[in-house]
Amino acid sequence: MASYLLLSLFLFFPHLCASSSGSHSCSHPEAASLIQFKNSFSINQTDDAAWYCDYSAGLKSYPKTNSWREGTDCCSWDGVTCHHLNAHVIALDLSCSWLYGNFPSNTTLFLLPHLQKLNLAFNDFNHSKIPSEFGRFESLVYLNLSHTRFVGEVPSQVSHLSKLVSLDLSSWIYYYEQFTIDKHALEGLIQNLTEVRHLFLDEINMSSANAHVFMNLSSSLRSLSLAGCGLQGKFAKNIFGLPNLNFLNLGGNQLSGQIPRSLGNLLQLTHLDLSDNQLIGQIPLSILNLTQLEYLGIVGNSLEGSIPNEVTAFPNLKYLHLYDNLLNGTLPSWLYTASSLKEIHLAQNQFSGHIKEFQSKSLELIALDHNKLQGPLPSSIFQLLNLTRLFLSSNNLSGVIEFSMFSNLSSLKNLDLSYNSLSLTSNSTSSVNHILPNLTSLFLLSCNLSEFPPFLKGLKRLESLDLSCNRIEGKIPQWMQEVGNDSLAYLNVSHNSLTEVEHFPWKNIAVLDLSSNLICGNLPIPASTINIFLISNNSFNGEVSSFICNASALEILDLSHNNLSGTMPQCFGNLSDSLKFLNLKKNKFYGTIPPTFAKGCQLSNLNLNGNLLEGPLTPSILNCKGLEVLDLGNNKINDTFPHWLGSFPQLQVLVLNSIGTHHSLKSQMGWAPKVESNIGWQVGLKVGMG
Ligand SMILES: *[C@@H]1O[C@H](CO)[C@@H](O)[C@H](O)[C@H]1NC(C)=O
Ligand SMILES: *[C@@H]1O[C@H](CO)[C@@H](O)[C@H](O)[C@H]1NC(C)=O
Ligand SMILES: *[C@@H]1O[C@H](CO)[C@@H](O)[C@H](O)[C@H]1NC(C)=O
Ligand SMILES: *[C@@H]1O[C@H](CO)[C@@H](O)[C@H](O)[C@H]1NC(C)=O
Ligand SMILES: *[C@@H]1O[C@H](CO)[C@@H](O)[C@H](O)[C@H]1NC(C)=O
Ligand SMILES: *[C@@H]1O[C@H](CO)[C@@H](O)[C@H](O)[C@H]1NC(C)=O
Ligand SMILES: *[C@@H]1O[C@H](CO)[C@@H](O)[C@H](O)[C@H]1NC(C)=O
Ligand SMILES: *[C@@H]1O[C@H](CO)[C@@H](O)[C@H](O)[C@H]1NC(C)=O
Ligand SMILES: *[C@@H]1O[C@H](CO)[C@@H](O)[C@H](O)[C@H]1NC(C)=O
Ligand SMILES: *[C@@H]1O[C@H](CO)[C@@H](O)[C@H](O)[C@H]1NC(C)=O
Ligand SMILES: *[C@@H]1O[C@H](CO)[C@@H](O)[C@H](O)[C@H]1NC(C)=O
Ligand SMILES: *[C@@H]1O[C@H](CO)[C@@H](O)[C@H](O)[C@H]1NC(C)=O
Repeated sequence: MASYLLLSLFLFFPHLCASSSGSHSCSHPEAASLIQFKNSFSINQTDDAAWYCDYSAGLKSYPKTNSWREGTDCCSWDGVTCHHLNAHVIALDLSCSWLYGNFPSNTTLFLLPHLQKLNLAFNDFNHSKIPSEFGRFESLVYLNLSHTRFVGEVPSQVSHLSKLVSLDLSSWIYYYEQFTIDKHALEGLIQNLTEVRHLFLDEINMSSANAHVFMNLSSSLRSLSLAGCGLQGKFAKNIFGLPNLNFLNLGGNQLSGQIPRSLGNLLQLTHLDLSDNQLIGQIPLSILNLTQLEYLGIVGNSLEGSIPNEVTAFPNLKYLHLYDNLLNGTLPSWLYTASSLKEIHLAQNQFSGHIKEFQSKSLELIALDHNKLQGPLPSSIFQLLNLTRLFLSSNNLSGVIEFSMFSNLSSLKNLDLSYNSLSLTSNSTSSVNHILPNLTSLFLLSCNLSEFPPFLKGLKRLESLDLSCNRIEGKIPQWMQEVGNDSLAYLNVSHNSLTEVEHFPWKNIAVLDLSSNLICGNLPIPASTINIFLISNNSFNGEVSSFICNASALEILDLSHNNLSGTMPQCFGNLSDSLKFLNLKKNKFYGTIPPTFAKGCQLSNLNLNGNLLEGPLTPSILNCKGLEVLDLGNNKINDTFPHWLGSFPQLQVLVLNSIGTHHSLKSQMGWAPKVESNIGWQVGLKVGMG
């Protein structure tokens, strides 16, 4: 987009292409102003701006002003462009330059009256306000203050910049510290900027403005981006009457109602994003008019009906993102033939019917999960050499998939075939060693597997592996220890019939779920990187080694419903500055409860029910200020009621079964927490698949 914008700027404003090697050199006052501007900041690669530049926006950040030296011709400085005849500074591009600090409202930048182009994007002005003096740059045609951590009101004086062709004030999506623009300032801006072709105002809070203000948008507009602006109500009709628009992003607002048919007037549109609004109804057939579209995103609305279909639709489409709607019917036929298509993301809809053969080979992402698709996988999927992500879970797909069929998909990184009616087989163990070398995440939940698929052996980069809810028996094979030895961070083999584990060799494991198997023997201790360790509903026995307390980042530990015995590792009380959930329910732990819970304790759920513990519970448990559930029931604790338990602000569930009823609790504590005898532990796991 950036290069396109620059190109169009130069096309319309050839005088911007001034040379910096002209016969004149820059004037002393202008050079001094630049130096003084530079000196008002520190040069600091603050993580957000530089990171966003380098990684997310694909640009290269570096301190451009380091090349600025007094006594040298400022026209030769990095980021500075001078007029080729009079050598006035006419353009300043200091985007991604590590500038950090408060932006002075009397900055000497305002002493450069000839500026036509100013780009300060991706610096960190530390929550400064945009000075109203920006309104003095009367010659500006290009102003870019995006992602600068300016905050507060956009000054109404910006609307004095009536020559602006491009204005970008987009701010960080991640921060609440938003820009706001007052109703009148927005009206002024839209009325006065009659030349504007590119308007990017993402994440500016416009909720006080009325949508009709956009009636007056200049008809020469090419790009309009108003994502996350708090726009409400129906579309301002005329947005779809701007004949030259080729970039439109209205995502992340509260726009409601149906998409107007007049969308079909935007014949030049290449990028359309209406995601995350409250749109209902069908996608209008007129969308088939938009043959230039390269990006179509209407994610996260409530659209119904089928996707408009016409054999030759969208010949230029690269990205189709319509996930998380209520769309139904069969997949449109153009999906299989559109020759530029890279991403088909239609997950979380109600599509039905078969997936047909793909004729286009450019596909990189296919996400059709959480639909009602049925029938076999088309064989052409296995010939999509550029495919990196394939998500087909939670449909009703059927047929036999032999793992060697994936052997051509060497770019594949993410594969999810969970929850279908597929049979996965592996007929030859030798040939499958070298397939899918780049796979980083593999999800085969409920795939009727009866063994660890042999092709896993070749997966040296695997980060996430989920084989839960299958029929795998016996022990975790020895060779699994080499699978993702350095990379595996998430392993879920819960809900199988495993009987034995030896040790956990994975050095970077963060989540390990072995729950609901038949495993007995001593509990091996995972690497100290572990965050979530779940082994409930097995038959582990013996004592729990205190080595488990080396896991200083442990947040959730569920050892419930096993035969573990011995004393509770006393170090559990010290682990608690990371530990949030500790469930030891239904084991055979005896002895005392750890005497001290350390300061800063983060425990919110502590369940020791159904053991042989004798207590006592000491007042140091009060260090766990966020405790919500405390269950000590069915133990051998013989203690009088600890009155200080009444001082937990968040406590919702308390079980101390040696202590009478609900009523007596209320009378002793003056308030009544919800008292239950049986607490279900539900740990919601959300692990990204990126
Ligand atoms: C603003 O500058 C940033 C960084 O150079 C660039 O990515 C973005 O496209 C620019 N916006 C406009 C409208 O030119
Ligand atoms: C850069 O920022 C870091 C952290 O904000 C700070 O410690 C450091 O002193 C800064 N460096 C300069 C040169 O301002
Ligand atoms: C950034 O702003 C904070 C307060 O908002 C201030 O304390 C700090 O000195 C500022 N840093 C710079 C480098 O201006
Ligand atoms: C801007 O104002 C500050 C304080 O108000 C002052 O110290 C500084 O010298 C002024 N800078 C310029 C360039 O006038
Ligand atoms: C429009 O721009 C002109 C000249 O730049 C300025 O005088 C006028 O106040 C502006 N109008 C608004 C509503 O900002
Ligand atoms: C947007 O501004 C309005 C006031 O104009 C305010 O009530 C609202 O909370 C703001 N929204 C956000 C997300 O900051
Ligand atoms: C589709 O485009 C044609 C021009 O090619 C135009 O006449 C027609 O009104 C458009 N249809 C819709 C529904 O917008
Ligand atoms: C699709 O949903 C609409 C209601 O939104 C319904 O009328 C139609 O029958 C459904 N079509 C299919 C094929 O399920
Ligand atoms: C596959 O990706 C490569 C590298 O990005 C690209 O050059 C090639 O054109 C792509 N193949 C197809 C069929 O799009
Ligand atoms: C596998 O990944 C590596 C590193 O990311 C990359 O260089 C290589 O091209 C990938 N191989 C294929 C076949 O995509
Ligand atoms: C394994 O299955 C594939 C696909 O079903 C088949 O082409 C191949 O011949 C089979 N190999 C053996 C050794 O049976
Ligand atoms: C509980 O403690 C009381 C007082 O110390 C004692 O009298 C009683 O026998 C104890 N009960 C049991 C079951 O240990």
